Amino acid sequence: MCGIVGYVGPRDCSDVLVSALTKLEYRGYDSAGIAVFENGKIEVAKTKGRLSDLKEKMEREGKPQGHAGIGHTRWATHGEPSDVNSHPHSGRRVTIVHNGIIENYKQLKQFLLENERDEFLSDTDTEVVAQLLDFYYDGNPIRCIRKVLHELRGSFALGIVFADRPETVYAVRCESPLIVGQGQGEVFIASDVPAIIKYTKDYYLLEQGEIAVLKNGAVQFCTLHGRMLEKELKTADFDEDSAEKGGYPHFMIKEIHEQPTAVKTTITPRIEGGMPNLSECGITPEVLEGFNNIFIVACGTAMHAGMVGKYVIEKLARVSVTVDIASEFRYRDPLLTPDDLVIIISQSGETADSKAVLNLVKGTGAKTLAIVNVKGSSIAREADMVIYTHAGPEIAVASTKAYMVQLSVMYLLAFEMAYAKGRIDDEECKRLTLELVRIPEVIQHTIDRIENVCRYVSTKLITADSLLYIGRGLDYALSMEGSLKLKEISYIHSESYAAGELKHGTISLITDGMPVIAVATQNSLFEKTLSNIKEVKARGAMAIVICDQKADIGFDCANYIIRIPQISEMLMPMVATIPMQLLAYYTSVNKGNDVDKPRNLAKSVTVE
Ligand code: AGP
Repeated sequence: MCGIVGYVGPRDCSDVLVSALTKLEYRGYDSAGIAVFENGKIEVAKTKGRLSDLKEKMEREGKPQGHAGIGHTRWATHGEPSDVNSHPHSGRRVTIVHNGIIENYKQLKQFLLENERDEFLSDTDTEVVAQLLDFYYDGNPIRCIRKVLHELRGSFALGIVFADRPETVYAVRCESPLIVGQGQGEVFIASDVPAIIKYTKDYYLLEQGEIAVLKNGAVQFCTLHGRMLEKELKTADFDEDSAEKGGYPHFMIKEIHEQPTAVKTTITPRIEGGMPNLSECGITPEVLEGFNNIFIVACGTAMHAGMVGKYVIEKLARVSVTVDIASEFRYRDPLLTPDDLVIIISQSGETADSKAVLNLVKGTGAKTLAIVNVKGSSIAREADMVIYTHAGPEIAVASTKAYMVQLSVMYLLAFEMAYAKGRIDDEECKRLTLELVRIPEVIQHTIDRIENVCRYVSTKLITADSLLYIGRGLDYALSMEGSLKLKEISYIHSESYAAGELKHGTISLITDGMPVIAVATQNSLFEKTLSNIKEVKARGAMAIVICDQKADIGFDCANYIIRIPQISEMLMPMVATIPMQLLAYYTSVNKGNDVDKPRNLAKSVTVE
């Protein structure tokens, strides 16, 4: 999704803006631009394409020279990617960058047209905001911003410069995240902390409806109602290195390798005396005991973590768990009671549909628990309880370490809930917890052992147009994630299927050489899955099997076998995830794709 940055300080503003935007590239974008005060005038440079295109354009046509300005990477929503639709957009005296969506832009445009403002150049909702600011501007920027904010509907964040207020940047947040970085004599705005971490770790988090004024290396805040604010300065708990590739060719492979540490950092503070302890998150056995039904709602990979959670919680705690896609749940008038717990899982904590679910649940009496990676994000702040995953910044669009830590939290929760419900005694709870504690080591060992195998097997996938992932039980839940990972970065069509369901229709798709990746890590279901593997192999499929070291399977049944360490069946997803991530990664690399920034995708999906 779009990224916003801004700067006021002694450095070369254009360079700072472009460097900060580079750190937001992972969010996905199709055009970029900046606006900088040069000798008291606002100079704009913008273009369709990547930041490298913008840099080339500035080399050719001249880079705006100055010390205050705003910048933007655009992920097209209103109007195709083009030079003219790129941000910044300007009215006569106002220039803005914008993240999010203005829902009532058509009505506002009509209003402007009726009032003799017909200077629209682009198809964007953003330009309407620039023109509206201009329309109401009477020389008092704050009054003008407040007036316009009262008229806009939607979720958005804005960076604004007024031509007659040189060296000053205004910023406002309405739902879409925005932070203000505070350095030594310099200030920044950004959609996300990694954008400015190179310059400062100290930042303020803008809240709903708050306005920031950046001037003379300092910032002032006020509310939508014009009241001045003192805000708490926060410090990022990661540094530039963790937001960089650290010697790896892509963020995705770096993040795959970070998983042992991410899991350790996530679970260690939540274990006490060998038992899970989530009380710092407001989750005690007494709280958990009271819930009769659980709904896990999320999008994409986070929803897949919920699928694993369903199996584990139901098996151990015997509590019914429904998993739903946020964009469906929010429109299906769900039946919720005060005895229900709604768990929202989100890496970014800003996903529009997941956020909407949180708002919908409020008022039903049901309690909400957010499992979120980004500290201070909207979902984390608005839920009744929150468990932060400690994966550190996840930059690659394809989620890997965030999924892994979401799984680890699902297990902790399942253990604690099963204990709270009296389904397992403390001895069993400690045994399970200890196994989870040992997982980071097993993940490391698995990566070390199979990375080359997966690299090799991936060469067999690159020519495929379409493939199937199959599995049963937890392996099925897991295969959904394997399939999503592969398709989103390799662009090979892939579907995940419950292995036993194949013969009810889908098996007709099998043709000679079609890859079928079977996840067969559940010993209790192994024989059944093996039969399904034989069925597809007999019909010409290229069978790739992910199973444990001891699984009784040979090359008569599979073309390629990826063996992973054997641990207890229930925890296998945390290990079996690794080959699926590596297969997706190396297939994408071998196809020459842009691994970290797959086409059409954005890291944080802040629009519906
Ligand atoms: C994962 O690889 C995805 N690109 C995507 O499915 C993601 O998991 C989804 O958009 C949800 O994001 P969130 O966790 O930030 O809410």
